Amino acid sequence: MTQLSYDTASARSAADDAAEHVDPARLTDAIDALATIGARSDGGVDRPALSALDFSARRGLIERAQALGCTVSTDACANLFFRRAGNEDLPPVMTGSHIDTQPTGGRLDGAYGVLAGFECLAALADANIRTRRPLEVAIWTNEEGSRFQPGAMGSSTFVDPSRLEGFRTVSDAAGVTFGATLDAHRSAFPTLATRAPGAVHAFIELHIEQGPLLEMAGTPLGVVTGIQGVRWHSIRCTGAAAHAGTTPMAVRRDAMTLAVRVRGAIEAFALELGGDAARITFGSWHIEPNSINTIPSAVTFTVDFRHPEPAVLARFDAALAECIAQHGADVHLEPLFEHPPVHFADSAISRVRAACDALGVRSQPIVSGAFHDALHLAKQCATAMIFVPSRDGISHNPLEATDDEHLVLGTRALAHCLVELCNEAP
Ligand code: GLV
Ligand code: MN
Ligand code: MN
Repeated sequence: MTQLSYDTASARSAADDAAEHVDPARLTDAIDALATIGARSDGGVDRPALSALDFSARRGLIERAQALGCTVSTDACANLFFRRAGNEDLPPVMTGSHIDTQPTGGRLDGAYGVLAGFECLAALADANIRTRRPLEVAIWTNEEGSRFQPGAMGSSTFVDPSRLEGFRTVSDAAGVTFGATLDAHRSAFPTLATRAPGAVHAFIELHIEQGPLLEMAGTPLGVVTGIQGVRWHSIRCTGAAAHAGTTPMAVRRDAMTLAVRVRGAIEAFALELGGDAARITFGSWHIEPNSINTIPSAVTFTVDFRHPEPAVLARFDAALAECIAQHGADVHLEPLFEHPPVHFADSAISRVRAACDALGVRSQPIVSGAFHDALHLAKQCATAMIFVPSRDGISHNPLEATDDEHLVLGTRALAHCLVELCNEAP
């Protein structure tokens, strides 16, 4: 068998070649096509995790990957893996992201990373590039966490399969369990091979920034060094339903009055503890019985708190526990998800920075405010991310947009970085 050589010089030129073969029109056409599946009339996308729309999007991408000569597999959490063979039987380099969206989502959050991964597969094919290691593009299931909580179920299960059992029992707002949707996915794609988790050499996720920092700095590419920490909770406040017109104010047990007071207290200590870096959001509210002339008997709302410093997150946890305890049996806290801040592997960060430099594109280090599938992959292998600017810093909104020029630059940097990693020695 011919001994293939992957010395630094040839690997570098293969990476340049891959970056050059990124086709801007093919990339933006793919983004436009995926955005039609779940398109909203306001230009955004609503494609819930493991919905019929998600299945339809997956079907199209499976066909595209097969046409590119890739093998396609799935796992017990309905993650999809599109694999381009390497010359050696070594752990693969992975990229990818998610294709589920927020209910009022945009066209790029997640979808960009997946479709840029596909563009890299196509560019490598066009350039006849063979790599030492296999290259895999992943679609991670339910990253957003808006249909089923918590988010990033697919990537976290890939890293820690013991999580799956608990996730399967989680229900969406209509009472459908995550487990039932996984079974439906299996039935919808019965011929896909099953992928075992296995070793991964490196994971690079390309994503829109979803905030304003790169745009404000006029920098086309962000070298993401890590992700801030996060806490998700559900808080249920209980009172007693009674007539809105007849019940004197002094004797009411209004669950909404209580919930608003608790919300105010949490916001106050979150900002005091976290300063300018704190991010506190109460994004989902459920009111019972939700009637104009009945005093609310129960209000359940969510808390999303984020901060880059572990010490602040710990102080927030303590303050929250004290706040809940002060309210006795009428306030109940259910933790939904937590994750400490993550610093990505220096080796992967250097690869991303080197790819930007090789393309002659200005980049800057940046910490991600949003969480991503990379948060979990970082436990498994050398992981980093590339960000491109978000116009006006807007995301989780139909107005989400990034200039085509930046979408292409991000994909070229990804292609460069992936080829370098794919040619790394064992
Ligand atoms: C993911 O979208 C997050 O909430 O950060
Ligand atoms: Mn995302
Ligand atoms: Mn998102």
